[in-house]
Amino acid sequence: SQYPYLDKGLEGIVAFSSRKSKIDGAKGELSYAGYDIDTLARNSTFEEVCFLLWHERLPNKQELDELNATLTAERDLPETVLNYLRSANPKSEPMAVLRTAVSMLADDDEEVLEMSHEASLRKSIRLTAKTPTIIAAFDRVRNGKEIVAPSKKNSIAFDFLYMLNGEEPGENATRTMDVLLITHAEHGMNASTFTCRSICATLADVHAAVTGAIGSLKGPLHGGANTAVMNMLKSLDPDTDIVAFIKGKLERKEKIMGFGHRVYKTYDPRAKFLRLLAQDLSKEVDMEYLYEWSEAIVKVMKEEKNIDPNVDFFSATVYYSMGIEPDLYTAIFAMARMSGWTAHYLEQLGNNRLIRPRLLYLGETDLEYFPVESRS
Ligand code: CMC
Repeated sequence: SQYPYLDKGLEGIVAFSSRKSKIDGAKGELSYAGYDIDTLARNSTFEEVCFLLWHERLPNKQELDELNATLTAERDLPETVLNYLRSANPKSEPMAVLRTAVSMLADDDEEVLEMSHEASLRKSIRLTAKTPTIIAAFDRVRNGKEIVAPSKKNSIAFDFLYMLNGEEPGENATRTMDVLLITHAEHGMNASTFTCRSICATLADVHAAVTGAIGSLKGPLHGGANTAVMNMLKSLDPDTDIVAFIKGKLERKEKIMGFGHRVYKTYDPRAKFLRLLAQDLSKEVDMEYLYEWSEAIVKVMKEEKNIDPNVDFFSATVYYSMGIEPDLYTAIFAMARMSGWTAHYLEQLGNNRLIRPRLLYLGETDLEYFPVESRS
């Protein structure tokens, strides 16, 4: 045939080259532009990681100060978006509202159709700055509370928690949020980044590309898994026999959310780091049973299926221990990944080729056409 083979899920296809991140699925290693994820999680900030992803090198002090100043100044939302958030159905999924609001940001962006690298980077910075404000504002509105304007006093992690809760977060909470943002910022050719690059490759603007990416992240096989993990844990009585519960699901061939990965065939390095955070935090807020369940699930999944947890498994317990509602987890994932998506957008733009794979047609051919009246 004209088609040598069909690779469903593109598992064996390398369709892009990149300098943004490297994953070794066999060893369980991840680095952003040359820096190991563990080193970044321990030492860096989300803002510094944004610079690293956009420029493929770490900033000097002045460059980081400048980026921080721009990210801070750009945190406000246009009135049109605030009005939308105020009028959105409070029962809507945060990911759906985020997708619409991010798309609306294009309306107010004077450079929306400006396709140069420089203009696309400026738009990327604005998108990264405004996404946390959108998520926090919708959460306030749907809970019948006033929208809190950004304090602009501190980091994205700090201001997000401030806008969400209406009070300044402590150092520990701010650092935990920063680590969550760092560990979710970038991850190779995942489904939403592929979506983002495919949209970019048609030479559509960055707002179009990240709006599509948010749609892709939402599904439970991708970013939606973190919300699904907590919904599962929350649905159980604290005296549930968790091992029997998981075994029952496996017997029924149900997937356990937060486990398995297309690339990692061992422990996801991000999960390793978040596991430690989950352990500490759940203890602090008297929710240790969640962490104990998680460890029991990890053990039974290893024994029964030889499958390890991914980033979404322990992050769910970390968010929950911080008092954040489960349906916001995927939106927070999007707020972090905005940096990775936009970095890939810039990279694609710099070396573009239309993404256009082929299709193996399996339907009928050469059928005779009859007018509708004569069809039975
Ligand atoms: N629970 C139970 N069995 C699983 C799971 C799971 N979570 N993941 C994979 N398996 C089994 C699967 O049933 C199959 O078994 P068998 O060969 O007996 O049919 C085998 O492992 C291979 O799995 P696969 O579905 O072919 O693997 P894939 O590469 O297509 O899927 C995945 C990767 C992430 C979609 C899948 O592992 C999954 O659905 N996991 C649960 C959802 C999840 O946690 N997603 C987050 C991914 S990481 C963060 C992100 O990117 O957002």
